[in-house]
Amino acid sequence: MNSFVYDIPVKVYFGENQLGHLGEELSKFGKRVLLTYGGGSIKRIGLYDKVMAEIKNAGLEVFELSGIEPNPRIDSVRKGAQICKDEKIDVLLAVGGGSTLDATKWMAAGACVDFDAWDFFNEKWAPVEKALPVVTILTLAATGSEMDAGVVISNPETKDKIGRIAEPLLPKVSFLDPTNTYTVSPYQTACGSADMMSHIIEVYFNMNQDLYMLDCFMEGMMKTIIKYTPVAMKEPENYEARANLMWTSSWAINGFVNGGKQQAWSCHPMEHELSAIYDITHGLGLAILTPRWMEYCLDETTVSKYVQFGVNVFGIDAALEPMAIAKQSIEKLSDFFFNTLGLKRTFTEVGIKAEDFPIMAKKACGDGILPGFKPLAQKDIEKIFEMCL
Ligand code: NZQ
Ligand code: ZN
Repeated sequence: MNSFVYDIPVKVYFGENQLGHLGEELSKFGKRVLLTYGGGSIKRIGLYDKVMAEIKNAGLEVFELSGIEPNPRIDSVRKGAQICKDEKIDVLLAVGGGSTLDATKWMAAGACVDFDAWDFFNEKWAPVEKALPVVTILTLAATGSEMDAGVVISNPETKDKIGRIAEPLLPKVSFLDPTNTYTVSPYQTACGSADMMSHIIEVYFNMNQDLYMLDCFMEGMMKTIIKYTPVAMKEPENYEARANLMWTSSWAINGFVNGGKQQAWSCHPMEHELSAIYDITHGLGLAILTPRWMEYCLDETTVSKYVQFGVNVFGIDAALEPMAIAKQSIEKLSDFFFNTLGLKRTFTEVGIKAEDFPIMAKKACGDGILPGFKPLAQKDIEKIFEMCL
């Protein structure tokens, strides 16, 4: 097992009736606040008015940027960074799902540099040395952006969707009130859970340096997602279900479960290429890809991990043949995504065409090898894409 550093300095207010702390937390960073949000769900759910009241009560000055799109675009980031510079913003407040949070985290970095915000993502790969402080109010359990240092930004002009991780991007404070997710549609709830499930699977499926305690923790989170997602879809205002999903979203990707494991992810780089060209929902792309990727990586050298997964997460009989357990575990996961959650199961159903596979596969592996559970070359990725048709 590798040595590691555990350092997740995000202050979390979890639960109902915590918004009263918003003013005091924002005030720690200054007086001028940039409030960012998406297409308007925060107004429809009444959160906008509550947030504004807290900001005003604290005597802060607020500027606004709305319209951040799902799969957020670099243009929104540019606009926000410019407002931060022009209005001398002290702190950014992102209210929404992962897209709003990601875009806002990147505005906070863009505000601190003189060059264009896309230069962090193109071949210049500019270092992220600092960022303005970001506070978040999460309204959709999925990406974990509320407690991680990652962002994923799209550029429709270059057909790129690129992720970056940088310490200065960690939110300073995040408000996680499960009641703010009551209005998330069954479809977005399902996609969010597929995303969380993938965040765990990307780390869990690893043949090296396992830490038993972390594997058990990840199995517990996967069982939580499997238990509570259908409940939240049927009973959107079930607090217990929404709370379990919300806290799982944060812990699936906040760095804790990586302890000691050195591993790159596989399905996420592949999915980002789908969203880059087809603008599909991230979690949906992952749900289609993950079981096929698992099938492609299954052989005598990897089967033991599938057995552990199948027995501990889905309760498959441990006395069966290892290969039979492994195959059943993939079927169980597919059944969860496509039957229980009702997500579409093929690329064909969501309009993704085979003609784009070579370019998407090439970009996913960065012209080389995509490291991960099993290293994948362009041809391997194309085959996985074909299995998704
Ligand atoms: O834009 P609004 O009006 O707010 O509507 C959103 C949007 O249409 C809606 N929504 C959010 N909260 C709601 C709600 N509707 C009703 N009630 C609420 N309470 O849901 C739709 C989707 O929102 P979005 O923010 O796009 O979803 P998600 O949280 O899944 O974020 C996806 C983005 O995050 C990236 C993805 O690639 C994608 O771009 N990721 C970020 C990661 C990170 N920062 O670490 C990791 C992930 O793997 C992921 O790649
Ligand atoms: Zn994800």
